[in-house]
Amino acid sequence: MIKGNFPIEKFETLQTPFYYYDTALLRQTLDIVKHESEQYNYDVHYALKANVNSDLLRIIASYGLGADCVSGNEIQAAIEAGFPAEKVVFAGVGKTDREINRALDFDIFCFNAESEQELQVINMLATKKGKKARVALRINPNVDAHTHHYITTGLNENKFGFNIENLDKVIAVIPSLTNLEFIGLHFHIGSQITDLSSFQDLCVRVNELQDDLEEKGIVLKHINIGGGLGINYEHPNHFPIADFETYFRLFHKNLRLREGQQLHCEPGRSIVAQCGSLITRVTYIKKGISKQFAIVDAGMTDLIRPALYEAHHRIENISSNEPVEFYDVVGPICESSDVFQKHCELNGSRRGDFLALRSAGAYGEIMASRYNLRELPKAYLSEKLIVNG
Ligand code: LLP
Repeated sequence: MIKGNFPIEKFETLQTPFYYYDTALLRQTLDIVKHESEQYNYDVHYALKANVNSDLLRIIASYGLGADCVSGNEIQAAIEAGFPAEKVVFAGVGKTDREINRALDFDIFCFNAESEQELQVINMLATKKGKKARVALRINPNVDAHTHHYITTGLNENKFGFNIENLDKVIAVIPSLTNLEFIGLHFHIGSQITDLSSFQDLCVRVNELQDDLEEKGIVLKHINIGGGLGINYEHPNHFPIADFETYFRLFHKNLRLREGQQLHCEPGRSIVAQCGSLITRVTYIKKGISKQFAIVDAGMTDLIRPALYEAHHRIENISSNEPVEFYDVVGPICESSDVFQKHCELNGSRRGDFLALRSAGAYGEIMASRYNLRELPKAYLSEKLIVNG
């Protein structure tokens, strides 16, 4: 019996838990991203932090996207997967000297710098190498992304970027940093944004800032609006692809780009989330007094989002067509927060059944840990089935 798009008979031979990536869906998503962004000639950089599975990276790179990286190792992984260095941007509040040197050696497109001291260090290291580093300033636009407070980034209280109030001072320093080329402004207001009016607010803020800078004679070549487009965790089957059409159109309509200015964005989740599921088996069904538990062999070590952000992932029993019952779906880890979903509606479940935790392609596999000395989950692609062993 097969439910949805899952090859259960193949799963029978594999050790659970594991990530399963539907690469046909990933390719459809990328086709749409490409089609919609090309209408306006926007540059899309995939945010590697969402998922660095090397097979997925190779597929994404093959669509001509650039890469948004937050560590030296991500830059290395991007280049190895075929992303061209001239399309790599490098963000992060705490870039180390080693990482900056690595990025300089690769001649990446741009450093998204987040503090004055960082600018000085990039300048110093670039000078030593006799290079000029391209930098954009990450601006904290103080726009509320209306998302979970752990994944909102663009408010004054967050650690990210330069506050607009301090910008003049920083811009005044840049000409003295002779091995930097100041090419753009970078923004990112948060993640899993489903209320698109937050992006409209961002456009207003970018327009105001550009007007201010223009008055001072500064027009930059590049504007990067970061990532953040949300996906539908409730209904992955009905909304398997985020609404990129509306997203790109919103920026086209609301952002006043200057002549020759290039727009960049950095989606992560919206590219890879829906193509991934965490596949786990029911180890035990345990009847409580007022509820029953489905204890599964995946835990918060494999998918930490529910424990960390109270995130919702749709769970389906892909082995059963029995009438639905309610279960608390929990993992085996010795932590009370190791709960995937309380009062979850599932087809009648038994020991050995496969459950799919949907929409787990972003911030799933990459955030796995070895707590309790568990093995890291393996990953399989639908088009290849066996990857990473
Ligand atoms: N650009 C910057 C500067 C970012 O900080 C992020 C995400 C992105 C782009 C990509 O954002 P996306 O399109 O994926 O929303 N682990 C959390 C999400 C953390 C996001 C951090 N920054 C989660 O599981 O929800």
